[in-house]
Amino acid sequence: MQVVICSIIAACGGLMFGYDIGISGGVTSMDSFLLKFFPKVYEKKHSAKEDNYCKYDNQMLQLFTSSLYIAAVVCSFIASLCCKKFGRKRTMQLAAAFFLVGVILNAAAVNLLMLIIGRVCLGAGVGFGNQAVPLFISEIAPAKYRGGLNICFQMLITLGILIANVVNYGASKIETYGWRISLGVAAFPAILLGLGSLAIVETPTSLIERGKTEDGLRVLKKIRGVEDVEAEYNAIIGATEAAKKAGNPFKNLMKRSSIPPLFCGTILQVFQQFTGINVIMFYAPVLFQTMGLGSNASLLSAMVTGFVNSLSTLVAIFGVDRFGRRFLLKEAAVQMLISQVVTGAILYSQLGSTNAISKPFSAVVIVFICVFVMGFAWSWGPLGWLIPSEIFPLETRTAGFFFAVSTNMICTFIIAQAFLTMLCHMRSGIFFFFAAWIFVMGCFAKFFLPETKGIPIDEMNDRVWNKHWFWRSFFTADSVTPELEQV
Ligand code: BGC
Repeated sequence: MQVVICSIIAACGGLMFGYDIGISGGVTSMDSFLLKFFPKVYEKKHSAKEDNYCKYDNQMLQLFTSSLYIAAVVCSFIASLCCKKFGRKRTMQLAAAFFLVGVILNAAAVNLLMLIIGRVCLGAGVGFGNQAVPLFISEIAPAKYRGGLNICFQMLITLGILIANVVNYGASKIETYGWRISLGVAAFPAILLGLGSLAIVETPTSLIERGKTEDGLRVLKKIRGVEDVEAEYNAIIGATEAAKKAGNPFKNLMKRSSIPPLFCGTILQVFQQFTGINVIMFYAPVLFQTMGLGSNASLLSAMVTGFVNSLSTLVAIFGVDRFGRRFLLKEAAVQMLISQVVTGAILYSQLGSTNAISKPFSAVVIVFICVFVMGFAWSWGPLGWLIPSEIFPLETRTAGFFFAVSTNMICTFIIAQAFLTMLCHMRSGIFFFFAAWIFVMGCFAKFFLPETKGIPIDEMNDRVWNKHWFWRSFFTADSVTPELEQV
């Protein structure tokens, strides 16, 4: 029970991240916000002659959304060091503090500079949070519930996005200061994480890693609810000593045998972002307005996609250990590929530069966008976080996970910064661009990604990588265990 409560409190970091993802699109389609900070975009939006595909194309507007992610990349590196030196709990508290400062600056913003600095602070919060939270959950969770508890983080990301969509819908009706409410409500998840993290324990691994072995043992007994924790305690001591002996995790990551998990963990995050999901998450209202839906209908449709996203994540929680990772990834790739192609084809044939598409076609597009979101929510979304957290051996785990987190942030930045410009130049072709990526990632899941379902986290090298038709060539004879050599 203690573990579940601690995990949920920690997963509030996901709520912060998700709220932030969901809030930008709605805010940037609010007139009062545009008028105050981006008057040029406001003019363009309201000019009848403006090209549908280009009316939101503005570098500063995109910078508003994407500045957060650049800050998050830098901060997740600092956070990985901080996690090791000061512990996971302190890192989460810092995340909440940064985020809160960002929220205050944003909600009170009187000029663009304040707005962007606020976004940078939010980014610091996200960077610290996303590095510490999954690590924290994995370390306190008993092995057999690790997958499900890990996906709680994604569940809270999707709930954050949904809450943001609902708040935007309500706040958009308040003409002059609605956007301040939207940006200000982000304080709640940060306060939840900040106050909640005062009540939770530090992970036994982190305590032992920092030499507090007695405290580590005490906490381990407390969270497992039994006195007899010797086996697990010894395993942590063993793993910590092995990791200490192995030395600098970043250096270890340069070894040939680290290439398979490093490549797979990182490319999964690239693929996750190049599904095009965040085009929908950040820009759904903008996208729907591009199709000619009024702003009310647009925000409403964004709420629907947010709801579908949360609900479908449940499939991942219950399906991931039953059907396996690869099955979900491959199935969803087909589903998402079809959705992108249909959406692209409808926009190509129906949406000219200045007209709107008809109601029935808009409805079909929204349905296919929902089918796309569903597929993402039970596959590339949660597994993009889960798989990198389970494929590294202990001596490279934190450093390897840092590469996964920062790749995610960099790719999110690229999509956020480039999408509106790409939409303007590639027009409906942008959907075919993402479809091509989805085809490639489906093939990757089929041919190159090994299945990790049910394999204990510390046996990945022997039971997964060493057995894989392609990746086993990266292991030299001395990295194979004696038992395997005899086979
Ligand atoms: C991704 C986010 C995305 C979200 C959507 C997460 O796993 O990292 O970029 O917006 O899923 O639910």
